[in-house]
Amino acid sequence: MLDQAFGRLSPDLAIDLGTCNTRVFVKGRGIGVEVPTVVSVERTGNARRVVALGDEAKRMLGRTPEHIEALRPVRAGRIEDYGLVQALVQDCIERSLAGRSLVRPRMVVCMPRDTEDVQRRAVQEAARAIGARTVHLVSKAMAAAVGAGMPVQQAVGSVVVDLGGGVTEIAAASLGALVDTETVNLGGDDLDDAIAAWIREQHNVLVGSRVAELVKQQAAAAIFGREEPDVVVTGRDLTTSIPREVRIRGGSLVDALAPSLDHIVEGLRRLLSRMSPELSSDVAEHGVLLTGGGAMLRGVDVYIREATGLSVVVAENPAHATVLGAGRLLEDDGLLERLTL
Ligand SMILES: Nc1ncnc2c1ncn2[C@@H]1O[C@H](COP(=O)(O)OP(=O)(O)O)[C@@H](O)[C@H]1O
Ligand SMILES: [Mg+2]
Repeated sequence: MLDQAFGRLSPDLAIDLGTCNTRVFVKGRGIGVEVPTVVSVERTGNARRVVALGDEAKRMLGRTPEHIEALRPVRAGRIEDYGLVQALVQDCIERSLAGRSLVRPRMVVCMPRDTEDVQRRAVQEAARAIGARTVHLVSKAMAAAVGAGMPVQQAVGSVVVDLGGGVTEIAAASLGALVDTETVNLGGDDLDDAIAAWIREQHNVLVGSRVAELVKQQAAAAIFGREEPDVVVTGRDLTTSIPREVRIRGGSLVDALAPSLDHIVEGLRRLLSRMSPELSSDVAEHGVLLTGGGAMLRGVDVYIREATGLSVVVAENPAHATVLGAGRLLEDDGLLERLTL
């Protein structure tokens, strides 16, 4: 009874805790906060203190003095540092609620489907410690499918490929339930690494991961034949050790990205190979939906289409699909129940 009273007071929350970004959705209000999943800490002896979170902490990546460290507490979709995640999520929730107090809300938290039990329990506990009344863990890719408006409740098979920062989760759904998933341990971070390695090899210049990410977002493409802009970046010349500018042609990165994209295509093929003939023919008819920030890579839809022969569509607002879908689950108890991991 007490919980019912709390239920009326508290705004329910959906949280997409990603390798790259953390997003919080407040029921009835929409996306409250969206920040990089980065936390900076200052170390004194064995103690550490959080000095920056989110955007401010991301700006510190690769440029901190010795006693300060900018850390990414989620790696490849797995939480590696619960203390920092809790600090970040708590801060995001407080800012999402903008002064309203947190009175034991229901929380939906998105995770990769193949997350181990230890991680799941730890997230449940952390959410309760923050003040959650009930915690539902749902698959990231399924939440993304719901957020992108896929007909996951119908008796028609749907396939979604969620291209995140550290992992790519591929899911098949039918009748409001997850039929099968395939997780590829590769995401946007790996594309950034491939770009940095390419710049080092081609130009003898070392760039940091943030610069590589900017190159990817501003100039890279998955396929040839597009008019990509050039981008000029500065890195450290490996011979002279002096900062040097290099001009990168967008189209020139196609070959650098292909090996990573091929791993994703192989993951999709593995999932398709396990499907029933009925679901297979649904996918042939309705195609594949791309979500996650990685879906914004130019030409990635065409790349997957050419590799599989399937029609491929990028979700509207792909980076927000997961948190919007999780938010929608807060309004549909039946579907939430069925999609809870
Ligand atoms: N325009 C873009 N082109 C290519 N990749 C992009 C673009 N915008 C964002 N990304 C990538 O999307 C990834 C983040 O996607 P997101 O769904 O937020 O990840 P996660 O859910 O794992 O935190 C990052 O690797 C980021 O570089
Ligand atoms: Mg995502």
